[in-house]
Amino acid sequence: MLPLSRRSARYSQLVIRKSVTFFPARLRCALVFYRKRALTTLEVSSSMKALVVYYSRTGNTKSVAEEIAAELGADVDEVVDLKKREGRMGYLSASIDATSNRETNISETKKNPADYDLIVIGTPVWFYSPSSAIRTYIAKHDVSGKNVALFFTCNGGPGGVVEKTKNLMPNAVFMGELILAKPSQNKNETKKKIVEWCTTLRQ
Ligand SMILES: Cc1cc2nc3c(=O)[nH]c(=O)nc-3n(C[C@H](O)[C@H](O)[C@H](O)COP(=O)(O)O)c2cc1C
Repeated sequence: MLPLSRRSARYSQLVIRKSVTFFPARLRCALVFYRKRALTTLEVSSSMKALVVYYSRTGNTKSVAEEIAAELGADVDEVVDLKKREGRMGYLSASIDATSNRETNISETKKNPADYDLIVIGTPVWFYSPSSAIRTYIAKHDVSGKNVALFFTCNGGPGGVVEKTKNLMPNAVFMGELILAKPSQNKNETKKKIVEWCTTLRQ
């Protein structure tokens, strides 16, 4: 039998050895668990095929589309309006077409939305409505049952553009919408909103 002082010394050595091995083991488990979770999240998001489709008359929606695509790792497709939209006459024709909910002629787009899990559609707001080019794109592509997210750029008065755009594809599954007012003037705020929005889309 060991004397009491040596016994308690051996006991405290055992406790120390146990706690040293016990805590790293728990830590290791936690690390493995969180690593597994992180990998699963990455695998899920990387397997999601996303397409960003946009129309832009003066470049605002284009820059936002490119930022969203970079965040999501998505393909990008630009919708080109074959009607002249530049300058004053272009503004006038855009105004007339938007207020009369008119479609336009667009060039053939490159990507097929049917090949994607998520379709993100972006348009400038034209008199509280989507642009004619996006109206035409939606009419030409059936997105029924597809996951669709919408983004809009405007000067600060979106009106009922979200509902109007959603009504053009009543059978789509809407994942969210983002409205950005004057995105090129509020670059930091815009970037923050895009990152947050894309995080919700990835979940
Ligand atoms: C014909 C026309 C109508 C517009 N109507 C609105 C509107 O109703 N509300 C608003 O906030 N901005 C309106 N705008 C401003 C644009 O939505 C805004 O400048 C947008 O960011 C332009 O995008 P883009 O550079 O991609 O063409 C209008 C612009 C045009 C050309």
